[in-house]
Amino acid sequence: MAETVLLTGGAGYIGSHTYCELVAAGYSVVILDNFSNARPDVLERLELITGAPVKCYTGDVLDAALLKQVFAENSIDAVIHFAALKAVGESVMKPVEYLKTNVSGLINLVDAMKDASVWNLVFSSSATVYGEPEVLPIPEDSPRGYTNTYGFTKLVCEQSLEQIAISDERWAFGILRYFNPAGAHETGLIGEDPNDIPNNLMPYIAKVATGELECLSVFGNDYDTPDGTGVRDYIHVVDLAKGHVQSVRSLLENRKGHTVNLGTGTGYSVLDMLHAYERACEKELPYVIVDRRPGDIASSYADPSKAQALLGFETTRDLDDMCLSSWNWVSRRINT
Ligand SMILES: NC(=O)c1ccc[n+]([C@@H]2O[C@H](COP(=O)([O-])OP(=O)(O)OC[C@H]3O[C@@H](n4cnc5c(N)ncnc54)[C@H](O)[C@@H]3O)[C@@H](O)[C@H]2O)c1
Repeated sequence: MAETVLLTGGAGYIGSHTYCELVAAGYSVVILDNFSNARPDVLERLELITGAPVKCYTGDVLDAALLKQVFAENSIDAVIHFAALKAVGESVMKPVEYLKTNVSGLINLVDAMKDASVWNLVFSSSATVYGEPEVLPIPEDSPRGYTNTYGFTKLVCEQSLEQIAISDERWAFGILRYFNPAGAHETGLIGEDPNDIPNNLMPYIAKVATGELECLSVFGNDYDTPDGTGVRDYIHVVDLAKGHVQSVRSLLENRKGHTVNLGTGTGYSVLDMLHAYERACEKELPYVIVDRRPGDIASSYADPSKAQALLGFETTRDLDDMCLSSWNWVSRRINT
């Protein structure tokens, strides 16, 4: 029988793409999502892509009774925990909400897993746990830190899982530190779809391309980078989703945890990204240079060799693929 994976936050951006890759790899998948940052029609779109009905519980990871029910009604082998709040600026304004959802949500989930004897968990961490990186490309054993409340919650979650792993050798945790997910599914049916002003660069540029936002503000062009603008490691969301399948498979087969970077190892600047998007949408996109944003760093890109060695992880999609798939997604969305 197919092994079953529970995705908390599985209706969201990375969760929905991972859902498709897990189904394609032969797993049976159950979603739990409170739809605080996802549209219910994503489920119909997942059915169109996979050609099979989606099983989804609508509810909160903070709801212990619901988690108990989900584990009782399904024979879950592993969990991927995406559900979290992720807006850096908002996290500083609303620390209690972020601590509750991100930290208490994880602990609640782990508690329910223990009661149900489910010991395999993949956790969505982030390159933000490196704070201000000392070495580039960033290896996993770099010192950890944080520069905002969101980053603090991810660090506390990682450290909590490390303590829990020490307590009982049955636990196997896959801690995945994402760099900057971008792009959309090749079908154009799912992608990143923020309701308000996007926090991340690509969805912001996408909204400039669709005319929903007037112009891109580039925060600083005097960084120590080739064109002076900030450099980040953008990873296609489908490559990232495939990394989750490899992580789950490794936990189930080897019963041993891992902490790895998921990135490409290549950094692109804000202007590289803007120009790649201009190629994709075939028009010039307006931008202005404004002051640096407090807390931003010049460059961040991954050393992905550990994920490659441990999981066989590799990326096959480049910046043009990210921009083309994003443009395909957003232009379909505004035309329907
Ligand atoms: N997108 C990025 O740039 C990025 C980078 C690094 C790490 N991450 C992490 O990856 C994970 C997924 O990110 P994403 O970009 O897909 O975000 P997303 O907001 O699209 O997805 C998160 C999903 O979780 C759901 N959710 C939120 N709170 C919940 C709760 N209390 N109970 C149940 N469901 C809840 C939302 O409705 C949403 O569908 C998050 O943990 C995020 O912190 C994201």
